[in-house]
Amino acid sequence: MTKRRATITATGHYVPAKILSNADLEKMVDTSDQWIRTRTGIVERRVMEGGASSHMGALASLDALAHRGIAAEEIDCIIAATVTPDMFFPSTACLIQDRIGAKNAWGFDLNGACSGFLFALVTAQQFVENGVHNKVLVVGTDKMTSITDYTDRNNCILFGDAAAAVIVEPCDEEGFGILDAIVRCDGSGQDALYMKGGGSANPATHETVDKKMHYIYQDGKAVFKVAVVRMADVSAEILERNRLTGKDVSWLVPHQANLRIIDATADRMGIDRSKVMINIDRYGNTTAATIPLCLSEWWNNGNLKRGQTIVLASFGAGYTWGSILVRWSVKDSPAGTA
Ligand code: ACO
Repeated sequence: MTKRRATITATGHYVPAKILSNADLEKMVDTSDQWIRTRTGIVERRVMEGGASSHMGALASLDALAHRGIAAEEIDCIIAATVTPDMFFPSTACLIQDRIGAKNAWGFDLNGACSGFLFALVTAQQFVENGVHNKVLVVGTDKMTSITDYTDRNNCILFGDAAAAVIVEPCDEEGFGILDAIVRCDGSGQDALYMKGGGSANPATHETVDKKMHYIYQDGKAVFKVAVVRMADVSAEILERNRLTGKDVSWLVPHQANLRIIDATADRMGIDRSKVMINIDRYGNTTAATIPLCLSEWWNNGNLKRGQTIVLASFGAGYTWGSILVRWSVKDSPAGTA
């Protein structure tokens, strides 16, 4: 009996309207547009005013459901990848379930930081391949501005808010769908990138607030050195073990943390810049949303096409990292066939 395979059947996304540009940040901290562009590749990022991660996640999910042409009641399970849940509990997945009216679904949150979407996609893949579920909604949603210290120039220039979603279902076409995945974590990186306040180790007190422990902290240089090696290595590894080279890849879909890390990964894989999805210039680092946001935008504008071979690659806090090989099975968007 052939193994049941899982595939992405639809994408959707939501980005808030408000733009925070490098010029805006120049007025807030001691930085410059030129420094931010050359060190990170970021030009502007989005800010969610009012709503929380579940609001963005629900809107992205409704977009994905509309593209798939199904009702929310058909969803069996919702996995919300986020480091900025609306609250500790109930889970953001529950809040999204309620907002979209997925009344037959269960769901849970998954924290893999910037690898959260990859970890959630691999988890959804298991439910589908095992035959437990037929329709899993995977949502990457992060309101990073809610944990960003806008007096810290090292970090406040990097992050933005967004959400994106995919639907994972069985695939009955040979050679299509999620073909392979490598996911890893290494908790020895815990002191380089974290938000220590508010959890059971450091419950919220006046002191944790005074010490700014409810904001993201990152030793950028230390994280950069590890990210650049591990994201590139794991992406090269998934190609090698599937007997592929960079020439076989239609799109590299990397986590958008730093353009220099993206370039290093593409170089290591032998992939030309023209085959790399890059939107860090417009959104910055939106953590769990970056990769599905790329998929959704590229599919919407007709550049991600059925039959293309794509490699998703991530690196994030933990450390966490991974790579997933996909042959895209969604029929081309109306923009692509026009
Ligand atoms: N504007 C101007 N100067 C700045 C700014 C700024 N916004 N920020 C830092 N600087 C200064 C520093 O103070 C330093 O000055 P000094 O040399 O006088 O001390 C100088 O610029 C260089 O600073 P570095 O930190 O060495 O800059 P670097 O080139 O490493 O870039 C960055 C920093 C962009 C953070 C980079 O290290 C990076 O991208 N790191 C990895 C990020 C990543 O992949 N994170 C994982 C995902 S995030 C997640 O999981 C939530």
